[in-house]
Amino acid sequence: MRHIASLVVILLLLAYTSIAWSFPWNKDFVDQLAIKAQETLTPAEPDSVPIEGGETLPTLPADISEEEMDALKDTAASIPNPIPVTAESVARGAELYTMTCVVCHGTEGLGDGPVGLFFDTKSPVDLNEDYTQDQADGSLFFTLTRGRALMPFYRDALNIEERWHVINYVKSEFGP
Ligand code: HEC
Repeated sequence: MRHIASLVVILLLLAYTSIAWSFPWNKDFVDQLAIKAQETLTPAEPDSVPIEGGETLPTLPADISEEEMDALKDTAASIPNPIPVTAESVARGAELYTMTCVVCHGTEGLGDGPVGLFFDTKSPVDLNEDYTQDQADGSLFFTLTRGRALMPFYRDALNIEERWHVINYVKSEFGP
């Protein structure tokens, strides 16, 4: 009887230790809080303020219409481009464009990148056309930060400064 009692006590103690909780059910070390490759940062809570610079992004509703998205893009036109169009900025933009945009928009910006060709309903836009070239830098910044209906956002792949370099490149190298 004493043995059984001690066994019960030991089992109860074990139940509250990590050994009991981890064996044999919890072997999935992949499932952790750490940010995995290709995973974006957890969106900030509404009203949160970055304490180390950066940006806060209000969450867009998943069912946002194209018109609502365009209205937000127009509002963003007033965001000034803080990076002057220097040779260095354009060169950096070229590198980043090659890394992030070429797959869809193609080296000449025509929208014919290898992945771009798979788009069925709407192709990646030709960045040489007036539609893009006539947009204010702030509106392009909005597109890179928030994405479009089909185009993913690039705020996790490109930091704020990098996005402006890409915009300087797209504006100086493409177009008529
Ligand atoms: C995975 C494919 C893909 C990648 C990568 C991609 N785009 Fe796009 N992009 C698209 C598609 C598709 C559209 C048009 C359809 C849409 O509106 O979603 C588009 C549209 C655009 C537009 C026009 C947005 C508007 O005002 O309607 C711009 C500007 C643009 N892309 C720039 C870029 C730049 C710069 C990069 C690199 C940082 C990039 N894209 C990366 C697929 C892509």
